[in-house]
Amino acid sequence: MYKICSLFAGVGGIDLGFLQTKRCKIVYANEFDSYAVKTYELNFKNKVDCRDIHKVQIDDIPKFDIMIGGFPCTSFSVAGYRKGFLDHRTGDLFFEMERIFKERKPQVIFLENVKNLVGHDHGETFNTIIKSLENAGYKNKIIANVLNACEYGNVPQNRERVYIVAFLDEEVFKRFHMPEPIPLNKSIKDIFDFKNKVDEKYYYDGVKYKAQIYQKLVEAMDDENTVYQWRRKYVRKNQNNLVPTLTANMGEGGHNVPLIKTKYGIRKLMPVECFYAQGFPKRFKLPTDVSDTRLYKQAGNSVAVPVVYRIAQNIIDALDEENEEIS
Ligand SMILES: C[S@@+](CC[C@H](N)C(=O)[O-])C[C@H]1O[C@@H](n2cnc3c(N)ncnc32)[C@H](O)[C@@H]1O
Repeated sequence: MYKICSLFAGVGGIDLGFLQTKRCKIVYANEFDSYAVKTYELNFKNKVDCRDIHKVQIDDIPKFDIMIGGFPCTSFSVAGYRKGFLDHRTGDLFFEMERIFKERKPQVIFLENVKNLVGHDHGETFNTIIKSLENAGYKNKIIANVLNACEYGNVPQNRERVYIVAFLDEEVFKRFHMPEPIPLNKSIKDIFDFKNKVDEKYYYDGVKYKAQIYQKLVEAMDDENTVYQWRRKYVRKNQNNLVPTLTANMGEGGHNVPLIKTKYGIRKLMPVECFYAQGFPKRFKLPTDVSDTRLYKQAGNSVAVPVVYRIAQNIIDALDEENEEIS
């Protein structure tokens, strides 16, 4: 079994993708949001270290082979402040990963982030990350691709993310390749509940809930195969059968959760449906004592699990030949 150190673990979307290969074991996970940890621990056997990553000593982390992490992206994303490494709230968090991989030199480092990381600050931010990996011993053994979940994960969500994989060993690197595109044969009908009436609170109506925009929604939402969004003054119709990129701030203030039209009325997606739109399996459990707002945030912050799984499988295949004695 390959031992994994998971940083910024959230609800464990990346962890899940690696575990699905059945060749990995999480030996350490860190995440300081106690609500995300609740969801994580409901689904995985390992406990999460809930300290701020800055407080973790390298010796606190057991021996591991693979480091995984979708380091916080608010400072890099177009939706955020575009401050990159100058943003002291989150910009330094990549360097917390660096602090650990520089010292421990795992066989593989897997990073996931918003697509905009690549072009941020005219490429400077991305270059800084690549240079950091190179200086730690991964030079010329790094591959980074932007992959869309609907093209690479058979998930009906338009979600472009950059995936960076770095290898310590040249032979393993040479055997690795990013996954090829696959057909999308899952539709929003497979992941959202169009058939049953769900909890009343998710429906918009002309009286109690969102009455002021209800009429506009009724006029604009004419197609059951499309996901819609309310954008301050107008209704946005998304591409047929594709969920728009789920974000961490949906469910808060002006940032609305995507909407669908069903025979019971117009409603927003339920948190569990947002997890399905990220490719989480039906057996993934959500805590019942955590607010919807927090669950939407957890789903939006997470990853398209099937894309991670496909990359993880290729990593494991590349490693296996080199480490035949590990099992
Ligand atoms: C983009 S999310 C990663 C989500 C994860 N990949 C998943 O599948 O759910 C980044 C995570 O980093 C966590 N985080 C931010 N700053 C942290 C810190 N200083 N120490 C530990 N965790 C932190 C956030 O709470 C958030 O859950």
